Amino acid sequence: MKILNLYFSSTGNTDKVASRITATVEKLGHRIDTVKITGDQEIDLLSYDFIFVGSGVYQWLPGKGLQEFIAARLAHYAAAGEIKYASPRRSGKKVVVYCTYGGAHTGSNEAVPAVKFMGQLFDHLGFEIVAEWYYLGAYPGQGRMKDFSTLGRLGNITGRPHEADLLDLEERVTGVLRV
Ligand SMILES: Cc1cc2nc3c(=O)[nH]c(=O)nc-3n(C[C@H](O)[C@H](O)[C@H](O)COP(=O)(O)O)c2cc1C
Repeated sequence: MKILNLYFSSTGNTDKVASRITATVEKLGHRIDTVKITGDQEIDLLSYDFIFVGSGVYQWLPGKGLQEFIAARLAHYAAAGEIKYASPRRSGKKVVVYCTYGGAHTGSNEAVPAVKFMGQLFDHLGFEIVAEWYYLGAYPGQGRMKDFSTLGRLGNITGRPHEADLLDLEERVTGVLRV
């Protein structure tokens, strides 16, 4: 099974989640390619059987680099005739979408668009979305965002994702690879 972990992180929270995904997959005895996205990278997504894709949430959407990557890959696969009407499933191809988010205003509602946005490229390509994971990620502590991690709808999220989040993640990674 060819496995890819593709992610964007600006302030380091999604880096932590992505690293634990990769470490867990390797601990389970699989090989995994891990790519931190910076924009239009030519990655052959269709060569993978299982893809983890994730990002921090910024104004309800994934990071700009991942948005650009998705737009460029969509254009590439559309031109290649791989985006088909009714998006038939590609046998055995699976994707897990994950995010880290702060939810200071409307809680997890403001992370939902980002997760749905990321999943659509893969859904269009015929991958089965087997899970969507939401992990809390504290806002950067300095400057104008100082209070976001303590005064929001989800209470005090300072220090997230913490080790308990990452242990939960390990269980989930183990679970989805059984599917
Ligand atoms: C400029 C900025 C905008 C953000 N916008 C949102 C948002 O709209 N919704 C949300 O839930 N979290 C938002 N967050 C919180 C981030 O999603 C959270 O800190 C996440 O863990 C960042 O991921 P990263 O460290 O991998 O970049 C924002 C953070 C920053 C710095």
